[in-house]
Amino acid sequence: MKALVYQGPGKMALEDRPKPVLQAPGDAIVKLLKTTICGTDLHILKGDVATCAPGRILGHEGVGVIDSVGAGVTAFEPGDHVLISCISSCGKCENCRRGMYSHCATGGWILGNQIDGTQAEYVRTPHADTSLYPIPVGADEEAMVMLSDILPTGFECGVLSGKVEPGASVAIVGAGPIGLAALLTAQLYSPATIIMIDLDANRLAVASKFGATHVINSADGKAAETVRAITEGRGVDTAIEAVGVPATFLLCQELVAAGGVIANVGVHGHMVDLHLEKLWSMNIAITTRLVDTVTTPMLMKTVRAKTIDPAQLITHRFPLERIVDAYDTFGRAAETHALKVIIEA
Ligand SMILES: NC(=O)c1ccc[n+]([C@@H]2O[C@H](COP(=O)([O-])OP(=O)(O)OC[C@H]3O[C@@H](n4cnc5c(N)ncnc54)[C@H](O)[C@@H]3O)[C@@H](O)[C@H]2O)c1
Ligand SMILES: [Zn+2]
Ligand SMILES: [Zn+2]
Repeated sequence: MKALVYQGPGKMALEDRPKPVLQAPGDAIVKLLKTTICGTDLHILKGDVATCAPGRILGHEGVGVIDSVGAGVTAFEPGDHVLISCISSCGKCENCRRGMYSHCATGGWILGNQIDGTQAEYVRTPHADTSLYPIPVGADEEAMVMLSDILPTGFECGVLSGKVEPGASVAIVGAGPIGLAALLTAQLYSPATIIMIDLDANRLAVASKFGATHVINSADGKAAETVRAITEGRGVDTAIEAVGVPATFLLCQELVAAGGVIANVGVHGHMVDLHLEKLWSMNIAITTRLVDTVTTPMLMKTVRAKTIDPAQLITHRFPLERIVDAYDTFGRAAETHALKVIIEA
C-alpha cells in the first residue's frame, strides 16, 4: 500500500509499505476513505516530537471502512464505516476509567507517533471497540474527519480547560484549524467577546466569518495593548494558546485577566519562560492537556444537528498519491489559504 512516511526532520515521502496485519485480539484494520494533515504533523516534521521516530507512517485523523477485526472486537465488523479517534484507549486502565484516555496505559496519542498512522491506504487501530466510533448513515464523512482531533482538541483543551462561560471574554492565539475549532465550540457557551490573534490576514478573515468579535494581527507586536483596549484594561478571562511556540505562550501571559485561565493547546518543542514575577498574585490557572476525545460522541451530535459546521474548515482536497503536495499546501497556508486539507485514500 501507499503511505506517507516521516524520514527525519524536514523529510517525508510517499512509500510502498506492506498492508498492516492484526497483532492483538482488540485490533481492527481500517481501509482509509479520507484523512487529513494536522499542525502536529508539521511539528513532527520540525523535529519537535521526540517520540516519533523516522520510518513512522504519519497521520492520526480519518474515516474509513473496517477491513478486518481481531477475535476480541465486538462493536464493529467488516464493512462498518468508522471515525478513527486520534487517541487510542483501552477503556479499562486507571486513566481510561477516569476519562483521561489521552494517558491510557496502552494507548493515548500513539497513532502516527509511536505506531503507524492514517496517512495510508490501511491502518491498524488498537483497542478498536473503544477507539473507533460508528459513523451514522448519511453523515457527511468529510465533516466527520474534523472530529478525529481538531474539534475535540479545540473544545477540550481550549474551551473546557479554559472554563469559557456565558458573558466571558476569550482570546484565542492561533487561527489555524485548532484555534478555529476552539472558536466554533466556544460559542456553545455564549462568551461576550472572542478575540482571535494570528499573523495571517486570511485566517483572521475566516475567524471573523466564524464568529470572532475582534481579530488582531499580532505582527506589529501590539496585540497585548489592543486586547487591553478591547477589555477595558482587564485582559481576558480565558487565553487559549493554539500555536505551540514560545512567543504565543508568552503573549497569553500578557493577555490573561486576574482570575483567568491560560489554556495551552499548542504542542511545544522548546522551553518557554513563565513570568511568575508578574503572575504570582493574579489568581490565574494554567492548564495543559493532550486531547482525551471524551467529548467526541457529544460533538458528533452537534455536527449532525448542524449546531457546529466543521466542514467549513475544509479548503483543499488531494488524492493520497499527491499527499506530499498536500503537505506543501498546508505548510504554506499564508500563501495557499489552506485550513484543513482532505486526503482521499
Ligand atoms: N494538545 C493537543 O492535544 C493538540 C492536538 C492537536 C493539535 N495540537 C497543536 O495545536 C496547535 C495548532 O494546530 P493547528 O493544526 O491549528 O496548526 P497550524 O500550524 O495550522 O496553525 C497555527 C497558527 O498559528 C499562527 N502563528 C504562528 N506563529 C504565530 C505567532 N508568533 N503569533 C500568532 N500566531 C502565530 C499561524 O499563522 C497559524 O495560523 C499546534 O501546536 C498543534 O500541534 C495540540
Ligand atoms: Zn492532530
Ligand atoms: Zn486505557
